Formats: sequence, structure tokens, C-alpha cells
Amino acid sequence: PGMLWKTSGILRPLGSGEFFQMYGVIRNLLFRLPAEQAHNVALNGLDLAHRLGVLSAFSPKIDSLPVNVMGLDFPNPVGLAAGLDKNADHLDALGALGFGFIEVGTVTPLAQPGNPKPRMFRLLEHQAIINRMGFNNQGLDHLLARVDQRRYKGVLGINVGKNKDTPNEQSESDYRKGISAVYSRADYITVNISSPNTENLRDFHNQDELNSLMKELKKEKGKLNSKIPIALKVSPDLSDEQIEVVSSILLDQEIEIVIISNTSDKNRDKLNNINKLEKGGLSGKPLYQVSNNIISKFYKLIGNKIKIIGVGGVDSGEAAFEKIIRGASLVQLYTGMVYKGPSIASSISSELINILKNKGFKNISEAVGTKY
Ligand code: FNR
Repeated sequence: PGMLWKTSGILRPLGSGEFFQMYGVIRNLLFRLPAEQAHNVALNGLDLAHRLGVLSAFSPKIDSLPVNVMGLDFPNPVGLAAGLDKNADHLDALGALGFGFIEVGTVTPLAQPGNPKPRMFRLLEHQAIINRMGFNNQGLDHLLARVDQRRYKGVLGINVGKNKDTPNEQSESDYRKGISAVYSRADYITVNISSPNTENLRDFHNQDELNSLMKELKKEKGKLNSKIPIALKVSPDLSDEQIEVVSSILLDQEIEIVIISNTSDKNRDKLNNINKLEKGGLSGKPLYQVSNNIISKFYKLIGNKIKIIGVGGVDSGEAAFEKIIRGASLVQLYTGMVYKGPSIASSISSELINILKNKGFKNISEAVGTKY
């Protein structure tokens, strides 16, 4: 805990620039470990810091930047993306970092080990990651138990997927199981059809498959008598034609949210790091522009009828703002936190407050989609 205080001169909490410098030191140590091991060490470290009561020092208190989307109140628009806390094991610690909302999962009905290691790779000079985790997770029962134990009171999304061994023709039933298991605990549910690391999963972007899946899930919601918003998480590797197909199904079926985007299995050409040859999904800075373009294309088709959560390479207030003016009502990040540290959500929120003020917007909602 002593490290969190500046001892020269008067004792005072560290400012955010100093937290960033401190994360630089921690990052140097973490980055000596293989990526997945560093990830686990970092999360256990966060849990420990949380138990010791020193974690809030990592996310300097900021003014709130409230937004209301789909009837849900978010203290700020910067969320934690799925995949970092697949099992909801670290909700309380992550909840103390200033995120406006947290999405856990992807969870599959049954526990599964995922792909053989190594399966997560850093591309340091690009501030990027390639991963082929393959939905490693402890299954629905474990996640629900952890969610029930949480103290975190903020907005919670639960992201559901299908088990690797579930035959294609039965995968709809995996999503149905996910929804019926989590609907009473979550504020929204994400239907993840866009991981590049589960074979054939992305076929759900095709017209017939997506129509059938969305119908089935709406029916399930009806049966459960639930009004929970459903978010569809899509791939950044869609053709214009696919974007049109997906948009029209979202509109027809009145799906509430689209999350744009998951990781990309393309876009390797401009990368230099040898890890670009690894199979898997690319995230971080090189995904930023790619996902921005897809957000714009979707927004032009769906407007404000379906809310967009913009994801991909968000690591600053400016990057978040660009996604907002392209049509995103909320943003999420994962890779930015690996490179910039646990105070990133707070920094982005306070940068956003300044950007809005400078550009003359009263709130986030006013800025959404104003680029066009
Ligand atoms: C992910 N992502 C992800 N998404 C999802 O819907 N379910 C998942 O289980 C995972 N798992 C996962 C693991 C790892 C190691 C990474 C880096 C990413 C994708 C993530 O939520 C996000 O959509 C992308 O990473 C793009 O955002 P960033 O990382 O560029 O901010």
C-alpha cells in the first residue's frame, strides 16, 4: 500500500499520470511472462489489491458521465469487454476500476478447456493481441454462482456462446440454455456469434441461420416473460452484403443492441511482429479503424433504432469519442487495459468529459452519430 502514496514532501494519493508510470513498471514485469500467464497474474493481483482495500487508488475518482441506454442507467459509457473475466471470478475487483459496465463470459452451457496453450500472443509494437482461446470457461453453473456472490452493483452484461462439441444443428439450444440460465441476473445478455476460434460459429451471420436463431431466442424470452435486452456481438470481417443482411434481421426481430465488434481473423498485412502468423483473432490498435468502419456502415442502416456498443482498439477518450460520433451509444475495451493499465476506464471517462465540453455537447447521447 505504501507504493500508492508519494512519500517525498507531503503524503498524498498519486495522480493519474503517476499511476500510469507505476503501471509501466508493473507492465515491464508482466510482459516478461507469456501472455496468458501475465493475464492470470494481473487478475490475481487486482483481486489482492481489492481485498487489501487499495484498488480504488488505481482508478482516480472521476465525475460521472451518465448515459441511459435501453432503460439502463450507466454511470459512464466505458465498459469492460467480454473475455477478460470469462467466469465472473473477478467482478468485484474489476468493478472498482471505474468502468460504466462490465460484460462477463463468454460462458458456454458446459465447462470446456479451450484450445491448447499457447493461445494468447502480444504484438507489443502494435499494441495488439492475437488470441485463439476457444471459449475456455467453467460453464454456466460456475458463472451463476460467482455472479450471485458479487458485491459489484453496476450494470452487468453476460455473454453466452456454444460449446465446441455441440453439433451445429443443436447450437441454437446452447444459446437458449444460456439465456434461460442468466436472464434473471443480467442487465443485458450478449449472444456471441463472432468468435473466430469456434469452428463454424460465424456462420450465424448468414441470413437463414441468424433469422432462425433470433426467432428462437425471442421465443425463449417470451416464454420466460422477460424483457431483458439482447445484444448481438458481430464480427469485424463482414462484407457490405452481410452487414445489410444482419442489419435487416436486427430491425425485423427488434433486437435491442449490436456490439461491434469482436476480434478479426484478417487485417494482418500491415503488421510486422512475427506473432501476426498466429491463428486467432486480432484485437487492439490495428482493429480500431476496422471496427470504426463497420460501426459507420451499421449506423447508416439501423440509425438509433438499435443501440450500438463500439469495441475495438479503444484506448483513449479520443478513440472512444470517434466511435460515439460514428453511432456508438456505449464503448467497451479489453486490449487497451493490457497496454495502458487498470486506470484506463477512469482516464477515458475524464478525457471524454473534456472532449464533450470542448465540442459543446451536453452529454454523450447528444454526440451519438453526429459525424454524418
Ligand atoms: C476476447 N474477446 C472476446 N469476446 C467475446 O465476446 N467473448 C470472449 O470470450 C472473448 N474472449 C477474448 C479473449 C481475449 C484474450 C481477447 C483479447 C479478446 C473480444 C473482446 O471482447 C473485444 O471484442 C475485442 O478484443 C476488441 O476489443 P479491444 O480488445 O480491441 O479493446
